[in-house]
Amino acid sequence: MTMHESSFRQSLCNEKKRILLGITGGIAAYKVAELAHVLSQSAVAVQTVMTRSACQFITPLTFQSLTGNPVHTDLWESSASSSMAHINLSREVDVIMIAPASADFIAKLAHGIADDLLSTLCLARNCPLLIAPAMNRQMWENPATQRNLAILRNDGIRIIGPASGIQACGEIGMGRMVEPVELAEAITAFWQNKRLLSNKKIVITAGPTFEAIDPVRGLTNKSSGKMGYAIAQAAVEAGANVTLVSGPTGLTPPAVDKFVAVISANEMLAVVQHEIPSVDIFISVAAVADYRLATMNAQKIKKTNHNLTLELTPNPDILMAIATAQNPPFCVGFAAETENLLENAQAKRIKKRLPLMVANWAQNAIGSDDNELILLDDMGEHVLPRAPKIEQAKHLIKHISTFFKQ
Ligand code: C5P
Repeated sequence: MTMHESSFRQSLCNEKKRILLGITGGIAAYKVAELAHVLSQSAVAVQTVMTRSACQFITPLTFQSLTGNPVHTDLWESSASSSMAHINLSREVDVIMIAPASADFIAKLAHGIADDLLSTLCLARNCPLLIAPAMNRQMWENPATQRNLAILRNDGIRIIGPASGIQACGEIGMGRMVEPVELAEAITAFWQNKRLLSNKKIVITAGPTFEAIDPVRGLTNKSSGKMGYAIAQAAVEAGANVTLVSGPTGLTPPAVDKFVAVISANEMLAVVQHEIPSVDIFISVAAVADYRLATMNAQKIKKTNHNLTLELTPNPDILMAIATAQNPPFCVGFAAETENLLENAQAKRIKKRLPLMVANWAQNAIGSDDNELILLDDMGEHVLPRAPKIEQAKHLIKHISTFFKQ
């Protein structure tokens, strides 16, 4: 056993993990035999699924011999114990890793195409998906591939690599598959991360609230909900039990344990207060409207040529209500500011008695797919330089988990 194998085996503790290794058509497929070997030697149960083109580069027999399990290649294979093989295979594993992931397969994943066994079981999965892209550098740089990767990132799919260097075609650039040993390490890191918040119950608020003026109009703000949804996704991946309470957004919720859609700040407060007694962590990402109408108009307000005055009354501060109550959960706030970012965020942290406040510039954050965050806690400032929101969410979850180790 090599050093890597023994440390990999150690890191998996006593749990018998199950992985589905998906292999698509690329010359790097031959290197995945090494990964299958390392995994199988490390107390991991490996199921292998190969696409038709992968079989042109390396035979299924290689993986059958290395993993001790039959290799699946066909959606319609007559030997399958059940006609629902695509569902069963994806349900019986803790994680799916596609290596190498070709540009074509990435495009299929991004668009939900399910025209062979591997793409079908990826679409039918209810477990995390990791992919290790490998392709020619021009294919990697092509805007179509980059668009597809952005979709996958946004869907919470973890992309490992690619690396840069000499390619099989002789060209030099980005697109080499990450080496098998590094892929094994990435899987370990993923499993360790998954345990970061296991047994923890988290409530996350996200998106804007909408405060009705009359039956057809309302007050709201520009929050897209992307940051809150990314944090919910990262918390699920870290093994937490997650309730996501969301104002109106155009987003598809991640696979959380409970999703509650609300409209107004008062509705959000009621749901949060109902959930909070059994909760360990409350992350308030929602951009809650500060005011609502003093009295909502039951009928549509008629247009006139005169100025219209609306009387507004302050909304409850949900985070403050939770964080300053007796025995609060661990509370995390978000401060989006347009000026004096750190001073304002720090003042809110103190006023709302928060162990952790996340500061970000409103103009950078709102609607964008990436963001810079500054975490403020008793230890000081921790800067998370600009990166996709899902990456920032994972860093934040990791940071939060450190409070529970102490
Ligand atoms: O609006 P403000 O800048 O004070 O928001 C800071 C934090 O307080 C955010 O985490 C936000 O979700 C929360 N908040 C709240 N209820 C409000 C206003 C803000 O929970 N009415």
